[in-house]
Amino acid sequence: METKQKTTEREQWGSKTGFLLAAAGSAVGLGNLWKFPYMAGKNGGGVFVFVYIAILVTIGFTLMAGELTLGRYTQLNALGAYRKISKKLTWVGAMGVLTAFLILSYYSVIGGWVINYIIKSVTGAISISDTETLGNMFGTMISNPIQPILYHAVFMIITLVIVFGGIGDGIEKASKIMMPALFIMIIALAIRSVTLPGASAGLEFFLKPDFSKLSIGLVLDALGQVFFSLSLGMGIIITYGSYLPKNENIPQSAVFIPVVDTAVALLAGFAILPAVFALGFEPSAGPGLMFVTLPAVFAKMPFGSLFALLFFVLVLLAALTSSISLLEVCVSYVVDEWKWSRKKTTMVLALAIFLIGVPTSLSFGPWADIKIFGKNFFDLYDFITSNVFLPLGGLMSCITIGWVWGTDNAIKEATSNGKVKFALAKVWCFLIKWVAPVAIGIVFYRSIF
Ligand code: TRP
Repeated sequence: METKQKTTEREQWGSKTGFLLAAAGSAVGLGNLWKFPYMAGKNGGGVFVFVYIAILVTIGFTLMAGELTLGRYTQLNALGAYRKISKKLTWVGAMGVLTAFLILSYYSVIGGWVINYIIKSVTGAISISDTETLGNMFGTMISNPIQPILYHAVFMIITLVIVFGGIGDGIEKASKIMMPALFIMIIALAIRSVTLPGASAGLEFFLKPDFSKLSIGLVLDALGQVFFSLSLGMGIIITYGSYLPKNENIPQSAVFIPVVDTAVALLAGFAILPAVFALGFEPSAGPGLMFVTLPAVFAKMPFGSLFALLFFVLVLLAALTSSISLLEVCVSYVVDEWKWSRKKTTMVLALAIFLIGVPTSLSFGPWADIKIFGKNFFDLYDFITSNVFLPLGGLMSCITIGWVWGTDNAIKEATSNGKVKFALAKVWCFLIKWVAPVAIGIVFYRSIF
């Protein structure tokens, strides 16, 4: 790798595929494999999927293109990028850093559960098809006051070690192998799940929207999930965009990343929800959905325990390509702005994030009854970050790009001064100036009042 960013020559992605896979690696993570299926399950299935896709098409693509463009133009980290556009917008970048910090604190707790399930696959503890036993085993694991916190620590340490060395070609190389492997694996699982006897009820639940279940809470959940899953609204896409070469085709990348991300989320839904129905679980079971249904699906496959191990390892790797991007946002901010050394920053931040995450782990066990605004710690962190900070960050990036920086400037950058084709440029301008900010604004307003 080249020496770190001198002001003139900023480190760039080694190849187009490398960048696309790394960006997709940040996007594809626990949000797709773990969160999307249980959010869909909790929110009535098909109707959630419908709203999710509607938001993805209008706001998701728009902001992906916008953030990549802003990043490549400014060639700066999130905070610097906003500050370069206007000093008054610096707080948006700062909010992004805070959001990343909070998301990672509970993301790592779930990452810890995955590590625990890797061990359980090795020992064969989860190669049983009895769903009740699986449910109890999961409940016992997450409610233990100590064990999941240790796994949370292990996940944080792995994340720290990767970020410690700087990302360089590490992320790029790992993503190139892992992402395709994960993709194949999840397709296989989806096929097994939809062919289970009794899966059709689950397919119907997942695919057929029941609009009577539509509510403002559901729309807010879907909006938050789009941002969460695409890693939008807090600056990581701006940062990744800043490493893009000037001739790179931004409109194309802005389509590719969300398509891959959504494909994985939908496949995870196909892998999990039909099995939920076939095996007699509740789709609204919540955060445990992936951990109780999938082992039962594996138990019904030839070489199931081997596949279970492979699967949870891939989930861990997908989670890590996301968690390093979350930690990197915080680290690069502190290194740039506070002038701390990279090593010290990474250690101090990782420790702080670990500590902040501890209450979310306890909220699945001994602290289940501690409620703030009627929510336990896990729900609270998730709500504040996914449903408040990310959409607010997204709203501000629409305003920044569409109105402050201006769509003319943005189009010039996105098309590399007219050299790259951007067929939907006019539509994009309209979406980023009007549709996206107004829609986000309305959802916000309605969910608060
Ligand atoms: N998108 C990742 C996932 O789906 C999580 C993630 C990584 C993220 N970086 C982010 C979410 C930035 C919001 C903002 O698991």
